[in-house]
Amino acid sequence: MKHFTKFESRELGQELIDLALAYKAKPSLDLAKGRGKRVGCIFLNPSLRTRVSTQIAAQNLGMEAIVLNMDKEGWALEMKEGAVMNKGTVEHIKDAAGVLGSYFDILAIRAFPSLTNRDEDINDFVFGQFVKYCGKPVVSLESAIRHPLQSLADHVTMKEFSEEKRKPKVVMTWGPHIKAIPHAVANSFSEWTLGMGHELTITHPEGYELDENFTKGATLEYNQSKALEDADFVYVKNWSSFNDYGKILSTDQTWMLTEKHLKKAKNAKVMHCLPVRRNLELSDEILDGARSLVQRQAENRIYAAQAVLSKILG
Ligand code: CP
Repeated sequence: MKHFTKFESRELGQELIDLALAYKAKPSLDLAKGRGKRVGCIFLNPSLRTRVSTQIAAQNLGMEAIVLNMDKEGWALEMKEGAVMNKGTVEHIKDAAGVLGSYFDILAIRAFPSLTNRDEDINDFVFGQFVKYCGKPVVSLESAIRHPLQSLADHVTMKEFSEEKRKPKVVMTWGPHIKAIPHAVANSFSEWTLGMGHELTITHPEGYELDENFTKGATLEYNQSKALEDADFVYVKNWSSFNDYGKILSTDQTWMLTEKHLKKAKNAKVMHCLPVRRNLELSDEILDGARSLVQRQAENRIYAAQAVLSKILG
């Protein structure tokens, strides 16, 4: 595996899930594997889980992780080819990515979408510029359209809570929010869930249809209560409109999951990638209750990252 930027295949997905669970059982299993190697964790946007879990994962492999908060501590980057840099940008991505590539064995990058330029975002332009110019294996720490480390951790968590001989019913439901939120987590969760052979139902208000490149094969059900019936795993996430790009079309609080919403899904476990806005996107009673897997998902981010770094190290 050279890069880790998206779902590649069911075989690789299964291998990474199994490896993550092996590292969870014994974090020091491959303590010498990354000795003398460095991973650069480059953040163009804020993070709590991704930053810390990737650092711990590297440490568990004997690697050094160096974090650069490029949005706050780096030079303002120019992304456009052939730009005359006579405005605010100080350093071209070609130069910055090339330099970072020469410092590290693996580069891990977070680059959110603008949510204003759909073409640039769906082509993952900023993230792609790093991949193009750094010349080293790249791990996505969340790009404009995907968050594969989150999805891998989510699937490790689902495996821990799945029954051996029964296919779970997996539902992803939109939850309300006051900000325009990217599509990356929802896209990736759908891509991984379908790719790993699960059936997936997606429910959201009309107008919130995701990019079909990520949802082909899923069942779309606009009636949330019908979608939630008999669910085993309910993944809650907000996203802004894809068709009316980056817009908030609804803040309808009746979509926020409470125990009442899950009356017909007695055993449903509820998932969210965090951070979550409590009592807006998801209720306290769900987040603090027995159904919630959110802390487990966050913990599993360590072992997902460890599996990915280990696989790239070879
Ligand atoms: N879920 C997730 O990626 O969290 P952070 O944004 O805090 O890294």
